[in-house]
Amino acid sequence: MARVIPDIDFLQTETPVEQAPLLTPETNTGKGRKLFIESYGCQMNFADSEIVASIMHENGFDTTDSAEKADLIFLNTCAIRENAEQKIRHRLNHLRGLKRRKPGLVVGVLGCMAERLKTKLLEEEQMVDMVVGPDSYRDLPNLVGTVDAGDKGVNVFLSREETYADISPVRLNSNGVTAFISIMRGCDNMCSFCVVPYTRGRERSRDVHSILNEAKNLFNQGYREVTLLGQNVDSYKWTPENGTSESLVNFAGLLDQVAQINPDLRVRFSTSHPKDITDEVLLTMKKHDNICNYVHLPAQSGNSRILKLMNRTYDREWYLGRVAAIRRILGDECGLSTDMIVGFCSETEEEHGDSLSLMKLVDYDFGYLFSYSERPNTLAAKKFSDDIPEDVKLRRLQEIIAIHRESAHSRNQKHVGKVHKVLVEGVSKRSDKQLYGRNDQNAVVVFDREDFQSGQYVNVLVSSSTGGTLIGKAIKQETSNS
Ligand code: SAH
Ligand code: SF4
Ligand code: F3S
Repeated sequence: MARVIPDIDFLQTETPVEQAPLLTPETNTGKGRKLFIESYGCQMNFADSEIVASIMHENGFDTTDSAEKADLIFLNTCAIRENAEQKIRHRLNHLRGLKRRKPGLVVGVLGCMAERLKTKLLEEEQMVDMVVGPDSYRDLPNLVGTVDAGDKGVNVFLSREETYADISPVRLNSNGVTAFISIMRGCDNMCSFCVVPYTRGRERSRDVHSILNEAKNLFNQGYREVTLLGQNVDSYKWTPENGTSESLVNFAGLLDQVAQINPDLRVRFSTSHPKDITDEVLLTMKKHDNICNYVHLPAQSGNSRILKLMNRTYDREWYLGRVAAIRRILGDECGLSTDMIVGFCSETEEEHGDSLSLMKLVDYDFGYLFSYSERPNTLAAKKFSDDIPEDVKLRRLQEIIAIHRESAHSRNQKHVGKVHKVLVEGVSKRSDKQLYGRNDQNAVVVFDREDFQSGQYVNVLVSSSTGGTLIGKAIKQETSNS
């Protein structure tokens, strides 16, 4: 399939000069008021907070890194499991005290929990002033105006088109080296356990030019790694208006274009769906050294009956076939990770055993392991009974964690004695005499600081590993001058 990008050759395009927004009395809702944004949940939510910051800046608000100093506090929330929402409830409880001390303080709940609960959240948490869903962030300044006028600000409209493609995110808590780029929004998959299709709406892909420009701008600002984000990146597809199937850009095509921006720009992506990840994507990864050798491929379960109930649309054999394709095309060194849910409706001990055996077979580098949490109104909540007792779920979770630890440990051991190209992200938390970064497979590597700096690539000989971190020493000067 041809993947011609019409109209512009992004590699030739000059980076537009960032200009301070021109504020008029109409757009200056903020009047320099200070906004504190707190993000929860997945990387997409963190990326969204940067879009929110950009929209608010353009309307005269400043951001602050302290809740105490803020005039507005936005919680960008997650609804994926019940405990994610409980965390927000606790936070709101805490903020109630702050609001008492500071009566003008505006508290907004944004993101997936806002979208799930809508105005019900205002009834339950009366100190909340704004409830704003993930597709309504352009309306935020206006909604603050509504709150200024003494009302509650609510917008939970879900769009079929919104991708915020034209908004240049303001990087928050940035290390200046790695950044997220949202390439699509929403999800059409309807996995039976999952709330995301209800909180984020229909799947839509962002204009390829805006993605490439964002990546190129980041590189020019000194960033050296971008992570392309979507709930199911393999179903990325973008066609220009009036375009033909010839001009369709799929995920492999997008990856190829982003990788060409500069060999010193590392490219990562998440999340791949086992039903959709193609050999074309894997071959594109192989073609470019700067596309990291790491795939996050959530299995959710190792048992075909449970996968069917989960509506994942693949079975155990299909999943293992995709892992075999990764190993065939990218080799054993390719980093692999999964998400697993234990204790899904009606899961027997034997079926749980299939998840354990899948974990052993695949030998993952990283695993995000959860016990099933029923979410209201999902297909599973409507059709099945959440019938696995909490203590059984907990025991199954401990079992899967134990098996995963063994894999992660043995995978880490394989890195020992080898030289890894590490992109330095900053000073290690444990000692300011050490730096940390990640290798191609996404493992964290710590080594002596010497004269190295953030944003440099350093060849590190790994000598040991502790608790998931690789320890080593730089063997020569940086491999590139970036
Ligand atoms: N789009 C990604 C997943 C995003 S949600 C994918 O398809 O893999 C992140 C993870 O949360 C999921 O992979 C799943 O493992 C977990 N999760 C989602 N809903 C859950 C629920 N109701 N209970 C427990 N874990 C859940
Ligand atoms: Fe949820 Fe499934 Fe979509 Fe992932 S692919 S966000 S698990 S519905
Ligand atoms: Fe949570 Fe929403 Fe992400 S539910 S995991 S923040 S898409």
